[in-house]
Amino acid sequence: ETTDSILDHFNMERIHQIRINSTGTTEAPQVNFKFNTSEVERLRKWVMTYFNPDTDLTVIKSQVQLGQLIRYEVSPKEYANITENFFRLIPESSPLLGKHFRSCAVVGNSGILLGSRCGPQIDSADFVFRCNLAAIEGFVNDVGTKSNFTTMNPSVLPHDYKGCFENISIREKFVKRLRLIHDQILHIPAFVIVNGRRDVEFTNAMIVEHHLPIKASYAPVETTKRMKALWKDADFKTKWPSTGSIMSALAACVCDQIHLYGFYPFGMDKDGREIEYHYYGSARNLPSHNMTEEYRAFQTLHQRKALVLHTEPCN
Ligand code: CDP
Repeated sequence: ETTDSILDHFNMERIHQIRINSTGTTEAPQVNFKFNTSEVERLRKWVMTYFNPDTDLTVIKSQVQLGQLIRYEVSPKEYANITENFFRLIPESSPLLGKHFRSCAVVGNSGILLGSRCGPQIDSADFVFRCNLAAIEGFVNDVGTKSNFTTMNPSVLPHDYKGCFENISIREKFVKRLRLIHDQILHIPAFVIVNGRRDVEFTNAMIVEHHLPIKASYAPVETTKRMKALWKDADFKTKWPSTGSIMSALAACVCDQIHLYGFYPFGMDKDGREIEYHYYGSARNLPSHNMTEEYRAFQTLHQRKALVLHTEPCN
């Protein structure tokens, strides 16, 4: 099969053929879902022409030196410094090297999860991805607790843990959240923007000082470029790939059965109920992604049975 024909399955025209109503409800059934293994394989092959988790997920020790300066992707005149803590936490190899899972849940942060009772179903997946250190405590019924791969944009600190540098109780709240990752993976896009420099350093310091058993992973500088290329070749108008879209692409490489939850960038559900932007109510700025465009892509993939897009409450 040529790359062109693979891409053809994701092209814009096809995606626009799928009608979504103003609330963005999926049309395809979500019960008795059967994956189409050739579509799953097609998706994996397509993503892997742009992104290979064995080599592209994280910076590894053999690629950097203590004290090395790494240019930021969107602040190219500024450099991140590989300090002692940083160097210590950079992994020897990708934490997903050679890994493969039967079923995976990718948990997005949409308020559609509130009242969904999807927690047990999410936790029943073999491997669970979560985005941006989203709250778990208080939402276990709806979002579960299992966390094998958690991302954290550095901006999570100023938004959800404002004052953590000075205020001990906020700092403790942050460390408490980090502890919920246990010995699993924390993935930080550390080389995107200089504004996050202090936040990354602080996070690294907390992991080291509190002897947290977390496996750290730091997205290399080219990650956004790879992901942008992936979406662009499928003709999507994405300005900046969202965390959820990056996690879904990663999941496509390592999982046979992908279940997306909390992917719903609309203000209302199909019954007209208001949907919060984040299920945990954090007042982060609206992002510069084009999530409705991404949502259409996920709907297409759902209809092709390459993955399941869960937008209904769970049983
Ligand atoms: O880092 P980013 O701003 O992309 O993500 P977030 O707001 O922490 O949410 C995590 C992911 O959930 C997003 O990247 C989207 O893929 C998804 N999401 C969604 O589909 N609808 C929402 N209302 C909020 C998030």
